[in-house]
Amino acid sequence: MRPSRLASIGVARVYITRSLPEHLVESVLATHDVGSWEGEGPVPRDVLMGQVVAVDGLLTMITEQVDAALLDRAPSLTVVSQMAVGVDNIDVDQCTARGIAVGHTPGVLTETVADTAFALLSSIVRRLPEGQQAVKDGLWGPWDPFWMTGSDLAGSTIGIVGMGRIGRAVARRAAGFGMRILFNTSSPRREELGEFCSLEELLESSDHVVVCVSLTDQTVGLIGTRELELMKDTAFLVNVSRGPVVDTDAVVDALGRELVAGVALDVTEPEPLPPNHPLLGFSNCLVVPHIGSASKRTREAMAELAISNLLAGIEGRPLPARVVVS
Ligand code: DGY
Repeated sequence: MRPSRLASIGVARVYITRSLPEHLVESVLATHDVGSWEGEGPVPRDVLMGQVVAVDGLLTMITEQVDAALLDRAPSLTVVSQMAVGVDNIDVDQCTARGIAVGHTPGVLTETVADTAFALLSSIVRRLPEGQQAVKDGLWGPWDPFWMTGSDLAGSTIGIVGMGRIGRAVARRAAGFGMRILFNTSSPRREELGEFCSLEELLESSDHVVVCVSLTDQTVGLIGTRELELMKDTAFLVNVSRGPVVDTDAVVDALGRELVAGVALDVTEPEPLPPNHPLLGFSNCLVVPHIGSASKRTREAMAELAISNLLAGIEGRPLPARVVVS
């Protein structure tokens, strides 16, 4: 790891790429020289490129690209601390090669994201967005025995793609809902949470497929036309990982050809999804704006962990949650 200049000058310079509540950053403010982006939305790239020239620590969001060009401009950077678990916007190999530690926020958001996966799943299988639209459109007439009938979770089979922390939290919920659990994963298998099977088998056998993998070179486009064709036409797809893991055009095509019964996405490619995007023309497609971890308590816990990682990095201590290069 690069030596922090804290030792020589007593204070480190850090830059935080989004305005965070003051009570969360006070531990850094008290001891270090802190700059942060106070404008609306993400920090513009040119501003960030200017700021990194003199910083020891950088606290980032998923909206910033931390690539070789940026790192080239940051000779004293010792730590990049991301307020998210996913770090696909950070070139971790480049950071590692330069002795820059990368921190992230696993664990603290697991249950919240798993809740979102289940909220999306129950909403789409029971047609809640369609139901609300029908009420708004004045289509709610006298009670009708077979109007708005959807599918059940109890007694169905869920296929979880990616059995990391979030996948396992989804599995625990699925067990509580009385579902049979299939999973496919590259991480160590935990048979007690369900039955391991190949991705193909999982797609063919599941009533609901929930995607929880990280975005890597290996998982870009993991769910495309071939995979959607393997799914039952009565099955539902949920994505709470990253947009590029599921091929958006393939989903539009699959919904158009009725290859699947419905899709619910917390993440899309592109993000933000334009309001006139073809996905939004399907009543059986629910899209929410990347809010998987967005409970107030969880976002505060993510900010706290990101700040702990940042402080540890600039003070030359082991990061509480360092990204492990595999
Ligand atoms: C993460 O932590 O990676 C989320 O997607 C951001 O909420």
